[in-house]
This record gives sequence, C-alpha cells and structure tokens, in this order.
Amino acid sequence: MDSAQEVKNHLDIVDIVGEYLQLKPSGSGSFKACCPFHQEKTPSFMVNRPRQSWHCFGCNIGGDMISFIEKIEGMEFVEALELLAGKAGVELPKFNKEQMGEKKSLQQANEYICKLLQHNLLTSPEAKIARDYIKQRGIDDVTADVWKLGYAPADWKDLEVKIKEQGINAEDLIKIGIASPKDNGQGIYFRFRSRLMFPIQDAFGNVIGYTGRILTDEKVAKYINSPETVLYKKSHVLYGLDKAKADIKRDDLAIIVEGNMDALTSHQFNIKNVVASSGTALTPEQLNLIKRFSSNIAIAFDTDAAGLEATLRGMDLARQMEFNIKVIRYDQNIAKDPDELIRKDLDHWKDSIRDAKPIMDWVYQHAFEQFTESTPEGKKLIAQFVLNECRHIPHPVERDAWISKLAKDLDVSPDALRSTLNKSIKYSAKNASDNAQIKEEKKQQELKIEENQQDVAKKMEERWLAAVILSPRLFHEININWQFPPHAKLYNFLKIKYDLSVQATTEEDEDIKNLIDYLAIVADREFEDTGKDSLAREFTTTESILLNQKTKLTRQDLENQMREAERKGDTARIQELLTQFQKLNT
Ligand code: UTP
Ligand code: MN
Repeated sequence: MDSAQEVKNHLDIVDIVGEYLQLKPSGSGSFKACCPFHQEKTPSFMVNRPRQSWHCFGCNIGGDMISFIEKIEGMEFVEALELLAGKAGVELPKFNKEQMGEKKSLQQANEYICKLLQHNLLTSPEAKIARDYIKQRGIDDVTADVWKLGYAPADWKDLEVKIKEQGINAEDLIKIGIASPKDNGQGIYFRFRSRLMFPIQDAFGNVIGYTGRILTDEKVAKYINSPETVLYKKSHVLYGLDKAKADIKRDDLAIIVEGNMDALTSHQFNIKNVVASSGTALTPEQLNLIKRFSSNIAIAFDTDAAGLEATLRGMDLARQMEFNIKVIRYDQNIAKDPDELIRKDLDHWKDSIRDAKPIMDWVYQHAFEQFTESTPEGKKLIAQFVLNECRHIPHPVERDAWISKLAKDLDVSPDALRSTLNKSIKYSAKNASDNAQIKEEKKQQELKIEENQQDVAKKMEERWLAAVILSPRLFHEININWQFPPHAKLYNFLKIKYDLSVQATTEEDEDIKNLIDYLAIVADREFEDTGKDSLAREFTTTESILLNQKTKLTRQDLENQMREAERKGDTARIQELLTQFQKLNT
C-alpha cells in the first residue's frame, strides 16, 4: 500500500474537513457546508463519508482529504500528506532536503531560529532586560512559552555560529526575512536587534514570521515586522489564530482585537476565542480564515478616528461575506486597549464581550455621541453617519425601523431621511456599474442561458447515473446519445458490471473512480430527502426527460438536414427525411 493510502485509511475525511468547516449532516453518510473556496450563502460543498471524498458544486472541484488540505492550506502534496500523517500517527519515509521542497526547508529554518531565540530569552545574560520586561507586563511563564516569545540580541555573532552549524545559510536567512543583504553588497545584517520577539504563526502553528518589540522608550518604531516572504503574507495571517481556532469554533464567535498583546493577554486570562488583526483593516483572506470556524465576529477596537475609519471599511467586506458583526465597547476611561482592561478589570472585559452590540446599534449610538443633535448641521452629520450604515441593512422593514427611530430622535421628517437614503443607494448603484458594464453583464447572462440548455442534458444524465450509483438495481439499458463522453464511458462500465449474464470483470480506472466519487455526492445532494419509492419515481421521470431530450435533438438535427436538402432542391432526400420525421412522432 502506498503511504497516501495508508494515511487515508487511518483518518476520516469528515473529521479532517470538520476541523475547518461547520459540517451539517445531509443524506446518507453525507455532510454539507458553505464552500471555503468561494463565497456563497447556501451550502454547496459536500463531503461523502462512504467514499471519503468531497466536492463543491459551486466551484466544481473535489477530491480526497489530501487535495482538500492542499487547497485549504495552500500546501504542496507532500506537505499535505505529512500534515495528515502527523494526525494519523503514520511514519512516512524520509524525504531529503532537495525533495522536501524549498518551502519546507525554509519552514524548518524558521522553526529552528524561533527555538534559538526562545532559548536565548531564557538563558542569555543580555536578555535579562527582556525577562524583566515580560515580568513587568505580567506575562506568565506558560504564556511566554505557548506564544514562543524570544529575544533577539544586539549582536547575533554567537547565534550565527549555531545557525551555520544547522546548515542554514545566508540566503535562507534572507528568504525567511530574518536578515537582509547589506547595502554595500558585503554580507548580511540581522533585522531584529535588542527586541522581544513575538513569532507569527499560521493557522497550524507553523512559525512564518516575527514581530519584534523594543524594550525601552527610544524614538524608534515600537514594533518591527518580518517582510513578506514565501512563507509570510501579512494579509493572509491573523495573530493567534492557531491557538484561538478551537475556541472560536466552540463559541461560534471570533473576537478581533487590534494589538498582538491584546490577544495574548486575553488568552492568558482564559478567553481564547481572540485573534489580533495587528493594527490593520481585515483582508478578504483573513476573513476567509475566520469563516472556516465561525460566521460571527465581534470587534474590539480603540476608538481613535483613524482606527474607526479602517474598521468600518473592513466591516463592509465582512458584511459582503455574510458575517454577523458585533462591536465590543468598554469604558475608555478605564483602559486604552483590551490588554490594559483585562489586567485592570477582567470582569469588565467579559461583560463587554457579552454585551457586544450589532454594528448598527453601535453606529447609531456613536453618531449621537460624536455630533450634537441640537443644531441643523449636527443633525445632518448624524443622519449621514447613520444612513451610510443603514443602507447596508438588507431587509427593508428593518431599514425603515431605523429610519423611523432616527427621525424621532433627530426631530425631522422620516421622508427627508428616506429620500436621502434612496439617493445614497442609487448613487452607489450608479457608481458600481456604468452602462458598458451593464451591457456586458447582459451578454454574459444570455450566454449563460445558452450554456444552461446544454447543461440541462448533462444534469439529467448525471441524475440518472447518480441514482444508479445510489441504487444499482435501478440500472437497465437505455438508448440515448450521451452528451458528456465520460458519462458514456461510465454507462458502458456499469453495463458490464451490472449485467449478470456476462461473466466479464471490469476495472475501475482513475476516471471512472473519480466520476463515481463525484456522482455519489450528487446522489446524496439530489436525493437527500427522497425515500426508496420516490427514488424509483424520480428515476423514471429523469429517464423520460433524457429520452425526450434525445428526440428533441434528433428532431433538430432532421430539421437542419431538411433545410439543407430544400436549399439544394433534393426532393428524394426531403422525402426520406420526412419519413424519419414521422417515425419520430409515433
Ligand atoms: P498598538 O500600539 O496598539 O500595540 O498597535 P499593542 O499591541 O497595544 O502593543 P503594546 O501594548 O504597546 O506593547 C497595534 C498593533 O499594530 C502593529 C502591531 O501588530 C500591534 O500589535 N504595530 C504597531 C506595528 O506593526 N508597528 C508599530 O510600530 C506599532
Ligand atoms: Mn497595548
């Protein structure tokens, strides 16, 4: 048995996929979820347990658990296999450095340097300042250990010797962003010096980069970060997600804070469904990461104007991605950020999480705090701020309820507000697409309809075969022209397999196997709520549509031939075609 098969035998695809998605049972041994690879509202991502396969009907891709990990983690095959082997407790044959792929070897270099800096923090005399700093900020030993905090020395000479011994060269150090080439082209310099090091880890806990904090109040950047590398894409990472994901899933809520220290401290005090955006607006990739574990987010941000703007912009995106968004507020007189708040008053932090408000409530309250409602100018500013958020509310009744409330509170007519809102909606619709774009969309739609008609035939074939896969006794021979060649191949395969009078054996080749995997999932989806009797009925209906389709196609073909014959004045041919036509209709 090959290693991939052995690993797969030890695991269940439902568990593996379930670590990323909220799977819901659907049909016999099947599960569904919203697809992590494209945006959607209704689930079209299916997992089939009996066949240990997955398929998304939206993006039309699928495969086994290894291909799932490859896609969701952005890994190469070998990496995905190793990850699963780790879970399965299966020992894989060793790969050497060349075979391992560059990414993997850089990953190991990163892991090594992280350990080195951790060790350096604990033991080097120079790092006493960092040890004192950690103590003074109240980070306990376990937390420092779990978050792999380290210390980057002023001079890396001693560490460099160990790094070299490990076979990590200057080029590797540059590639992982620990060092840069010197301006004069002679050798390298280390980016992080005299800093407390916070490793940045991906969702799996792999160290991919660093953030380093100064320990004094020198006038230099408080934090410096790794540059983008093959391993580290800033917009693809959320600080702390590897440690937060299980709790995010369990609580079905992701709390997003700005600062890395905020996340770390919250975890230390046992509120662990917290990740840090590291001070920037959330990106689609980051939101996709969160979406794997929950569709609910609660954001806690410092309420300075710049932060607010960035956050609201980030929320537009989150809204489009169907997140429920809440806002966590706490008394800014007590603390300026969650880290400080948690240390001063843990219960206040817990209460503010519990009392998190939907974003609209927060915007409303904030508008009235920010501007004065007693002047006409103030009324206008409040209305603008609130309506701007209001137009994102999908449900008209809910939208209108807010408008009524706002009209009352501002003492203005609701109609004035409604027309302002409509204007802003029209304006944004106009902005979104000019004429040319609309035309192009129309054309695309027409093309789609045409394609759809061909798809219908293919869909029916699929349904017919899927029903047969689900219930082999339904199989019997059918005389149609298969529109999709693989379907014809499978049909011929099944004909031999299910025909008891023929003693031939037939092998499932790779194409057939993949198609059956796929159709098993189609069957689960299509016949999820169908009982045994109804299945037979649905099967018959599908079959008659298929046969009708065949007649229709033949008729179309005859018509074309007839037109051709008329053009040529070939009366004998016309007569012949007419006879065929009549046969069709009987
Ligand atoms: P903060 O200034 O709020 O940092 O910036 P903090 O986490 O509260 O840090 P402490 O408590 O002063 O130690 C929020 C985030 O913005 C990024 C960091 O990721 C930080 O966690 N940042 C901030 C930088 O990247 N560089 C900076 O110079 C400052
Ligand atoms: Mn802070």
